Amino acid sequence: MHDDTFARRRSAAVARAAVSVHPIQPERAEGSFVWDAAGRRYIDWTTGIAVMNIGHSHPRVVEAVREQSARFQHLCFAVGMHESYVAVAERLNALAPGPSTKRTFLVNSGAEAVENAVKIARVATGRQGIVAFTHAFHGRTHMALSLTAKAVPYKAGFAPRAAEIYRAPYPYLYRNPYGLEGDAATDAYVRALEDMVSTTVGESEVAAFLIEPVAGEGGFIPAPGRFLRALRAYATRIGALWIDDEVQAGMGRTGRWWAVDHEELEPDLLVTAKALASGFPLGAVVGTADVMDRVGPGMLGSTFGGNPTACAAALATFDVIEDEGLLARAQTIGARLQDRLGALATRVDGIGDVRGLGAMVGLEFVRPGTHEPDGETVGRVVSESRDRGLLLLPTGTHGNVIRLLPPLRMDDAVLEEGIDLLEASVIAAVSGEGVLA
Ligand SMILES: Cc1ncc(COP(=O)(O)O)c(C=O)c1O
Repeated sequence: MHDDTFARRRSAAVARAAVSVHPIQPERAEGSFVWDAAGRRYIDWTTGIAVMNIGHSHPRVVEAVREQSARFQHLCFAVGMHESYVAVAERLNALAPGPSTKRTFLVNSGAEAVENAVKIARVATGRQGIVAFTHAFHGRTHMALSLTAKAVPYKAGFAPRAAEIYRAPYPYLYRNPYGLEGDAATDAYVRALEDMVSTTVGESEVAAFLIEPVAGEGGFIPAPGRFLRALRAYATRIGALWIDDEVQAGMGRTGRWWAVDHEELEPDLLVTAKALASGFPLGAVVGTADVMDRVGPGMLGSTFGGNPTACAAALATFDVIEDEGLLARAQTIGARLQDRLGALATRVDGIGDVRGLGAMVGLEFVRPGTHEPDGETVGRVVSESRDRGLLLLPTGTHGNVIRLLPPLRMDDAVLEEGIDLLEASVIAAVSGEGVLA
């Protein structure tokens, strides 16, 4: 926790719009832990919102950054060609889903990667329409917020929004309005998408579909593989591109490099950021050479994009994920979380759904016996957990989902300790209401 003097300094100096979920002042972080100014240790399952997948201050990242910044910190790729930019592009091209030859363009953030993917898609197709989905989050810049679904606090007040953006229902099976389950529900979402596009956008107007394979800010909702396969086929059929937003789900979080790898699908463009450079600002658009080469020289650029220090951090991050077997570890962690939290859900009426892909797991809270979102309980779980030494974040369009983003290097003892703390916090948060079954 921080002291009152610090709280006063913060509110006097920092924009009111920049909020912090936890009233803590981190001083040091290492591996799975964060220590605050009072010396209190927390297990960190926020990982800086899906950034520190390999844990805090991994020695190989620290060393790579130290070495690069001592040699040179910045020149700008538009001025001279540093090798690490090319090396990151080569690495991403090799790791990107699908067999086609790829090209990469580097930027500073997820929102900037989304912006550039839209620019590329429009130039490459000569079309304008972008079909995004409900429950989507794609960032806070003007185009990105226009593509994001939720009005408050992301879009309201920032009109006029960007034009030629259309929205289809995200395949949120737990809340599907069709009264169907499994494949039948998924197929209903596919029909709704195709109907919306053909009747209100026009199939020949669509430049790209933009989707998160696991909706992050929307509530940790994995899109069924069947839906993604249908989307791929539909995009191809109507001559549109598929932009895969892996900013939150990518870089090993789900147990494969990219969430769409679980379905062996190849998007035309993939955007990544967050965990790409373990806390250093770096984002990327990775696309098929066929699409990327349709954008002419000088049409994309950025002063800081692909800066050498962030590239050094990214190269070390790729190595750590590979050398330490973190894709397999993400699957093990995810399975254990689903196992124990699934068991908890049978004891707590208010947990409506436990879902996820790999180590990206969400717990959706509802008013017992209903599907009505319960954000208040989630708020209590988050603060009860913090008081016990576990940092968590809420998510979801209605703020009623706890998202779990544990570091992938976390050992079993810390994993079990974290789950114990989470269980105790959930029980404390709901016990006042008598909803324990
Ligand atoms: C799926 C997704 N896309 C894009 C973004 C925007 O990334 P950034 O905050 O780096 O601009 C985010 C951030 O949370 C995200 O989760």
